[in-house]
Amino acid sequence: MTSLADFRRACAVARPRSAVILGSGLADVAHAFAATHAVAYADLPGLAAPGVPGHRGELALGAWAGVPVLVCFGRVHFYEGHPWDRVTRLVELVADLGATRAVLTNAAGGLHPDLNPGDVMLIAGQVELLTPTDWPKLAEPQRLSTPALVAALQARDPRLLAGVYAGLTGPCYETPAEIRALAACGIDAVGMSTVREVRAAVARGLEVVGLSCVTNKAAGLAPGTLHHADVQTTARLAVGTLARLIAAVL
Ligand code: HPA
Repeated sequence: MTSLADFRRACAVARPRSAVILGSGLADVAHAFAATHAVAYADLPGLAAPGVPGHRGELALGAWAGVPVLVCFGRVHFYEGHPWDRVTRLVELVADLGATRAVLTNAAGGLHPDLNPGDVMLIAGQVELLTPTDWPKLAEPQRLSTPALVAALQARDPRLLAGVYAGLTGPCYETPAEIRALAACGIDAVGMSTVREVRAAVARGLEVVGLSCVTNKAAGLAPGTLHHADVQTTARLAVGTLARLIAAVL
């Protein structure tokens, strides 16, 4: 582990322009990333070690697809009891370290009938279903997976769905009735993170790419009960696709 001061110095030299935040069970997506420096979240001001399994809690600098990148292994969530400014702290930090683009990934439940476990959805719009906020509403976030980026990625992978992500507070999964209501509202995927990070990143002028890794059909759309351990296991199905998409973005 590196001290924050050394990490900052290394960033000043390497000048990473992109930062990737890897969500639940997605650390393996960074298999093509070679870290040169790393700091534990617990040592970063305003942050804390993640308490959820599958989130390593490490900020690393290194090379991915031949370019200098910051990779955040895991995130902290509102449902763990953290205030919103701690949830968005990672985005603030990577912006301070020079990133101009944030690639935000998460694990999500799929509502759209074409979304199956192991699929990735490009987030083309988001709906915030969290606690009330006095933040200004994001005008349809032009910096979130821009139409040009959607077109470029879909040219590589015509099956890639660009859909709407809804962020809920959690920590419990939705009821089947809630999922029916969300589907009727045009939601394609649902999760418990990312939307505030998108807002913070856009507020800082960052370009944002959102990628949801579908770990399950949302509640009531497939038999069985959802458990976090299963979400982590199924996230592995999407690792290859997600790694390819991130490399293409970088
Ligand atoms: N709902 C909310 N969050 C999730 C889900 C889900 O079905 N799957 C993974 N994260």
